[in-house]
Amino acid sequence: MKNIILILSLLSILALAACGGKETAPAKPANPNGLTDFEMENGIGPVKEKIQLAEINMDMAAKGEATFIAKCAPCHKLDKRLVGPAQRYTADRRTPEYILNMIMNPDEMTKLHPTGRKMLAEYLAPMTNMNLTLEQSKEVLEYLRKIAKEGHEQNIVADPVYRNAANQE
Ligand code: HEC
Repeated sequence: MKNIILILSLLSILALAACGGKETAPAKPANPNGLTDFEMENGIGPVKEKIQLAEINMDMAAKGEATFIAKCAPCHKLDKRLVGPAQRYTADRRTPEYILNMIMNPDEMTKLHPTGRKMLAEYLAPMTNMNLTLEQSKEVLEYLRKIAKEGHEQNIVADPVYRNAANQE
């Protein structure tokens, strides 16, 4: 009888020790890239907070189109891959903040952000920083939102961003 009690108490000590072990296990890091959750979703650069978007502002979109033609069209078409990816549906696949950070900080985006790194691996040429102001970048963003909306309305098909893994968009 004494032995049974001894065994039972030993077992409960072991059980307690096992539970304690679980509690002290080290917490897993949030993500393996060393970026914050905000940066993972919205990129790295001058835009560090969510911005409020209203309906597409057509005046801004018109100014954004002029900027796009002057500074982005050498490398980007809307529906076809050129030096960089087709821009038709960028506004669908990335957050507005991510797009602004990519425009204003392409260097770090393609070095430090896992999505930017994948893009550089796919397109091989680095995107140039065209030194747009935040206001100009927001105008281009309105233009990108406008062309995505038109693309849906007119069922326009654009090149996928990745050649070999369409599901990575
Ligand atoms: C010198 C060529 C070049 C110029 C100029 C350029 N880009 Fe790019 N862009 C690229 C390349 C190449 C990529 C893919 C990433 C990489 O390889 O650096 C890219 C990627 C992007 C992306 C990311 C798309 C995605 O799906 O993640 C956006 C947004 C973008 N460019 C917008 C612009 C805008 C807006 C301008 C004009 C202000 C511009 N780019 C000017 C070459 C260029």
